[in-house]
Amino acid sequence: MRGSSLFAAIAVFILSHSVEALYPINDLAVTPAMGWDNWNAFGCSVNENLLLSTAEKIAALGLRDVGYQYIVLDDCWSLGRDKEGKLQYDPAKFPNGMKYVADQLHSLGFRFGMYSDAGTYTCGHYAGSLGHETQDAETFASWDVDYLKYDNCFNEGLSGTAKITSERYRTMSDALNATGRSILYSMCNWGEDYPWKWAQTIANSWRMSGDIYDSFDRPDPRCPCTGDEGYECAFPGFHCSAMNILNKAAAFIHTSAPGAWNDLDMLEVGNGGMDDEEYKAHFSMWAALKSPLLMGNDVRVMDAKSLSILNNPAVLAVSQDPVGSPAIRRWRYYVNDTDAYGQGEIQMWSGRLSGGDQLVVLLNAGNSTRSMNATLADIFYDFGPEGTAPEVKQGWDIHDLWANRMDYATAQSVLDGNATSNVTRFYYNSTKTSYKDGLAANNTLLLGKLTGTVEADGVIEMEVPRHGVAMMRLRKHS
Ligand code: GAL
Repeated sequence: MRGSSLFAAIAVFILSHSVEALYPINDLAVTPAMGWDNWNAFGCSVNENLLLSTAEKIAALGLRDVGYQYIVLDDCWSLGRDKEGKLQYDPAKFPNGMKYVADQLHSLGFRFGMYSDAGTYTCGHYAGSLGHETQDAETFASWDVDYLKYDNCFNEGLSGTAKITSERYRTMSDALNATGRSILYSMCNWGEDYPWKWAQTIANSWRMSGDIYDSFDRPDPRCPCTGDEGYECAFPGFHCSAMNILNKAAAFIHTSAPGAWNDLDMLEVGNGGMDDEEYKAHFSMWAALKSPLLMGNDVRVMDAKSLSILNNPAVLAVSQDPVGSPAIRRWRYYVNDTDAYGQGEIQMWSGRLSGGDQLVVLLNAGNSTRSMNATLADIFYDFGPEGTAPEVKQGWDIHDLWANRMDYATAQSVLDGNATSNVTRFYYNSTKTSYKDGLAANNTLLLGKLTGTVEADGVIEMEVPRHGVAMMRLRKHS
């Protein structure tokens, strides 16, 4: 089969299998999980009140109904094991217990995520689940947990080959399955032993890098692998910038599929280390690459800019698109305007969307605003080499996915609790109508703003801010 027809066959296969998981270990995460995790903003300072007050705020800000459904409690919740070996929650932090937290979250319309570790200890030095998988999975199920983040610290050296690591992680996958409860399984082994090669049949998502850091492109020796030359990474580390993670993901992001996603780590939007364009770029790329989208900020003190990034329906519709096809980097060039952290670069990413639409993202990681362009030939090269694809031989409408972003005054009124009914024109309610159905019905909230057209064999040109993106949905001329 020629390369282009092979790609076309794969595309047809993916399109025709767009409504269910490709590697069904369960029926969860058919689109990337959305929610909130306390780690980025709070670290080990966890307790019942933090989780429940955050959940209430997420609902009040309209963010539950745009899709942020999982409230994930990260490390540091436990107090070791009792005489029977059962995991104990810390009653000083969780006075009413975990089942109570789950019940409260469920009654607010959320799902409850918890954390453990495929080692002797968690990264915060609490009891880990290695050797206790069945018992711990049963404990989580008895607490009505809906999601397990499963970390990789203190793993007793049980890593170094895909076989060793995958068996360690499979034990918990099987244990969760055996409980009979639907529990989303989120592996967190930082990309060690290349989980994108094997984790699809074990987990719903797997972290593909060391921990994110709230910086657009700052290098750090503790995150030594850049992804510049493909991906060869013995020590994933931590303090990884958004650009570092993105450049690693480029080599293998195509291994994601419905039910099984590369996880680029939790969002930093709202934590203060990046400017507005940088956060827009970070959020856009995480949505385009179909990473899980777990907010990582203190939503109780969120500012208007962050809210109007996190609630943008046109970008979320890309993340939650039923085709589930991650954007692929079509090109990358270095540019001469360096910032404090090194050489600038520009990139173009593109991917299939439902309804025959195509996503295009122009990413400017240079140090100044610039005009960037993308040819239809480059956008569609997976569908035929060197401009031969039929998609290149036709015209397209261009929808700008940031042009209808909620204005700051409206966002502030939502945060202040005195929004008018006018606000509904910015919010998509995915609790009522799924993104899949909304897209099929051409809900205009999900399509951004029609700003131009590109003719057959043409070129799209956009001005892209420093450390920013232009994000577009192409739709065939009607
Ligand atoms: C890291 C993990 C973080 C967080 C932390 C908790 O290994 O990547 O996301 O869970 O442990 O100690």
